[in-house]
Amino acid sequence: MSTRLTPEQLRSHRWFGADDLRSFGHRSRIKQIGYSEEDFAGKPVIAIINTWSDINPCHFHFKDRVEAIKRGVIQAGGFPLELPAIALAENFQKPSTMMYRNFLSMETEELLRSYPIDGAVLMGGCDKTSPALVMGATSADYPAIFFPAGPMMKGCWKGNVLGSGSDTWKYWDELRAGNITECDWRDIENGIARTPGHCMTMGTASTMTSAVEALGLCLPGAASIPATMADHSRMAAECGRTIVDAVWADRRPSSILTREAVENAAVTVLSLGGSTNAIIHLIAIARRAGIAFSAEDFEEFAARVPLLANIRPAGTHLMEDYYDAGGLLAQLKNLRSLLNTDALTINGRTLGENIEVSDHCDTDVIRTMDDPVTSVPALKVLKGNLCPDGAIVKPSTVNPQRMVHRGRALVFDNYADLKARIDDPDLDVDETTVLVLRGAGPVGAPGMPEWGMLPIPKKLLEAGVRDMVRISDARMSGTSYGTCVLHVSPESAVGGPLAVVRTGDEISLDIPNGTLDVVLSESEMEARRQQLVAPDFSADRGFVKLYRTHVEQAHLGCDFDFLAGVGNPEPEIW
Ligand code: FES
Ligand code: MG
Repeated sequence: MSTRLTPEQLRSHRWFGADDLRSFGHRSRIKQIGYSEEDFAGKPVIAIINTWSDINPCHFHFKDRVEAIKRGVIQAGGFPLELPAIALAENFQKPSTMMYRNFLSMETEELLRSYPIDGAVLMGGCDKTSPALVMGATSADYPAIFFPAGPMMKGCWKGNVLGSGSDTWKYWDELRAGNITECDWRDIENGIARTPGHCMTMGTASTMTSAVEALGLCLPGAASIPATMADHSRMAAECGRTIVDAVWADRRPSSILTREAVENAAVTVLSLGGSTNAIIHLIAIARRAGIAFSAEDFEEFAARVPLLANIRPAGTHLMEDYYDAGGLLAQLKNLRSLLNTDALTINGRTLGENIEVSDHCDTDVIRTMDDPVTSVPALKVLKGNLCPDGAIVKPSTVNPQRMVHRGRALVFDNYADLKARIDDPDLDVDETTVLVLRGAGPVGAPGMPEWGMLPIPKKLLEAGVRDMVRISDARMSGTSYGTCVLHVSPESAVGGPLAVVRTGDEISLDIPNGTLDVVLSESEMEARRQQLVAPDFSADRGFVKLYRTHVEQAHLGCDFDFLAGVGNPEPEIW
């Protein structure tokens, strides 16, 4: 017999249903807003955590969608309350939205815990918003459903389809190589992002919304619906109806986020050719749910999971095509032999039951297991004296000639140094040089920005070079590509080996064998370590200070050291 709560068992009953002085205050003040007993008495209170803001183009339709969600909540007999939270607009926020991910997770957890909330709809999609909202809701552990923003429609320039991020990098290189004009570049600027919605390539946004759906926290099919379609509004209302039912059924994140669910998300990300950022985010989400999950766990699946989504940057299409081809549900149906289909989802059904209804109608956009886009693994974890706690690379976007490489390091101490020197015509560099960027990790930057696809030096671009081996303690956008070794851990700012590498040292990369080393003796590395001067962060204040003091390294998910696990049970006295 499945659980059904009574109105007296709702958490919000303590605020609105009790018969005491405090509840008098709560009821009189909610009535001050204009609500009556008919609106709230005995009903589940649903928080709609809305990451809308004037500066987030990916969430620009959330002002409308929130009304559809409220409609669904009311239809199902709930009481919706919209609670705004920090927007994390990927393209605008410096030094990186990653520095704010944990803060949005804290804000989410605290909003849910401190107010009379029974369940939540989490409105996100732009890169870090999805993991942040899910991390916060996992720690709060009240019933929660994720509402994905949906991808924007395709871009266009002179008949060429444009995809966010990927085509920005591509045409930027062509501009610097002199192959397109400033006027072309301006036209591309006007044509690359034309509707609300998140990036429509397989960047971090599409990767993470799909991962959250595979975790079981979305309605089936929700992650693939383009932002501006009518289907998206209908899905919003259905989210509202579903969360009310999930509250009565007491269906909490802790009953959904099992190890099997995390494995489903990892398999999904790999089969999408998804963003490397997903590794950090899924490790962090898993740790909030009390599940130990590592990059090595990801890698184990990578050897078995083929790339099925033919979407840029690893493939050729965009999210709009993917939706029309059947979307994530169709892909999961193709993948079902690798999934834990018994995993519970937020609608009360299993993942297997959810994917059973899907239709697959384009075998180019969504491939079958025996006809993948590529069987080159989507992820490789590297270990060696340059990355004792690991580094990662995305072999599916690596130039095959660079899979095994030895070359001379050219070291940039930080991003400012890189920007100042990379296009210097006198830079001592050729296509075999290994570009190294340090000072770009979680503590160093801070926030581990997406600087990991280091630009190719201008003089090499003009000579036709489009890929080189690049190594950093940074992340890389999911829309980026190339032979980029990322997430080197521990990072240079905390004394990791990247800090002792010097220009001219020989670097050895072997992706098939999973190694990354600097050709130096341990005694030489130790001697150099003794000379290191720790970076001075004494001028830090506010969020930056809190972040630098408590952030963990990339291989642990970059969460704060005080946030792992589910929150404390709340005292009845509150
Ligand atoms: Fe928001 Fe890409 S900028 S998803
Ligand atoms: Mg991105």
